[in-house]
Amino acid sequence: MKQLNIIAACSENRVIGRAGRLPWKINEDWNYFIRKTKGGTIIFGRKAFEEFGYPFSGSQTIVLTRNHEWRCKDVIVATSLQDALNRAQELGNEIWIGGGQHVYEETITMADTLYLTVIHAEVEGDVYFPVWDSFFTKTISRHESRNDDFRYTFFVFAK
Ligand SMILES: NC(=O)c1ccc[n+]([C@@H]2O[C@H](COP(=O)([O-])OP(=O)(O)OC[C@H]3O[C@@H](n4cnc5c(N)ncnc54)[C@H](OP(=O)(O)O)[C@@H]3O)[C@@H](O)[C@H]2O)c1
Repeated sequence: MKQLNIIAACSENRVIGRAGRLPWKINEDWNYFIRKTKGGTIIFGRKAFEEFGYPFSGSQTIVLTRNHEWRCKDVIVATSLQDALNRAQELGNEIWIGGGQHVYEETITMADTLYLTVIHAEVEGDVYFPVWDSFFTKTISRHESRNDDFRYTFFVFAK
């Protein structure tokens, strides 16, 4: 079985999104996401995927939806989590869970590693990252950074 990674960014109050979008613009975190997932397979929920609406070059995208009619160019569609994980295993690349809330909740117990950018602010939002610290008890690495608006830390956690 390929290693299963979760990658996410959340505020101190665990917000990950607001009205279908990210509530912040942090270029360094976006570039980190692209760099880490390059060459891998990213599994997104349909709503998270529709925020940008196209697959990233350099990685394979699987979108989870229960709508059997849903299609998007260069995207693999999966109608169950098991289907998505099977397709990802077949591709043989590193596997990344890219959100949103529902997909993070469904995968947090089975993931091996968590790449979490914590934004050191209380942010208003309507979707949340699950409580993770009872599952991911080991800190593998941490790197602090900031932009004009936020301080944030890139954490890697393991179980
Ligand atoms: N900060 C971050 O790191 C980050 C990362 C990603 C997303 N986000 C934010 O998260 C928000 C979107 O998250 P969300 O929780 O609303 O939605 P989501 O998890 O992205 O998507 C939910 C949808 O995915 C499909 N789905 C989920 N589990 C499935 C399963 N087991 N089998 C089949 N289909 C399944 C369903 O699609 P259908 O309704 O089509 O059936 C479901 O409605 C946005 O605000 C986005 O900006 C933040």
